[in-house]
Amino acid sequence: MEMHMHAQILEWLTTAGERLKAPLRQDLTVAEKTSAKDLVTEMDHQTEEYLLGKIHQYYPDHHTIGEEGSDRSKASHDCGYLWIIDPIDGTMNFVKQKDHFAIVLAIYKDGQPLAGYIYNVMRDHCYYGWVGAGVFLNGEPVVPLEISDIRQGLVSGNMDMYAHEKYPNCRKLLDYSLGGRYNGSGALSILDVLTGRTAVYLSLGLEPWDLGAGHVLAEILGFPMTRPDGSSVDIFHKGPVIFAQPAVHQQVIEILKSGELND
Ligand code: IPD
Ligand code: CA
Ligand code: CA
Repeated sequence: MEMHMHAQILEWLTTAGERLKAPLRQDLTVAEKTSAKDLVTEMDHQTEEYLLGKIHQYYPDHHTIGEEGSDRSKASHDCGYLWIIDPIDGTMNFVKQKDHFAIVLAIYKDGQPLAGYIYNVMRDHCYYGWVGAGVFLNGEPVVPLEISDIRQGLVSGNMDMYAHEKYPNCRKLLDYSLGGRYNGSGALSILDVLTGRTAVYLSLGLEPWDLGAGHVLAEILGFPMTRPDGSSVDIFHKGPVIFAQPAVHQQVIEILKSGELND
């Protein structure tokens, strides 16, 4: 990862973030995608177009995927550079709360994680990292708080999942923990695990743009990202995912499998 590329990305994220703040003071054009719970705004489209435009301008031979438009089949996953963009992660928060959303960008090279950026716009917190360098928050190295036992940590994920009778072991996980935190942005929830604010984030289905940057940062910090049965995740196949603090990962898998924790 070249410093020049990193500096460009920070500049683009700052500009994109400033543009997102402006419409929060005005009416937004909001549309439903699959349902009233799945929204998109004109700012999702504009932010994605802006970032993809910059990438194509400076790196015309790189592959790109953006949540709001691009055809995934056109992107090569394991050859050369691949950029994956979520222009606004937490669009519902962007619309209803005007807070708690992030611009998310991941870069893979030859199929391997290279760099990840998660920019919490309203807090002006940019978490980023690249392989071989570490993970940083606005330039300062991130030192995660450690959680050694699920019974000493908080869990996060979608509230419906923990409450749903179809997933009784998710409920057990919540019961074993100190409680739940639900923030409506997958990327910001993953950051909570990586910094130690929560012990685990569980989702039943994330797309590459939701989890790509978190995956890269987790790899750099040595945090596991697996399926609930402990198997490995291909980020291009939507499915359930766990991000966990290293010391609690096996406990989480045990509880999700059996509903019990034996020690
Ligand atoms: C969503 C958020 C949410 C997660 C959903 C995602 P979006 O992304 O990350 O927390 O539960 O699965 O789709 O639609 O706001 O970019
Ligand atoms: Ca998302
Ligand atoms: Ca999005």
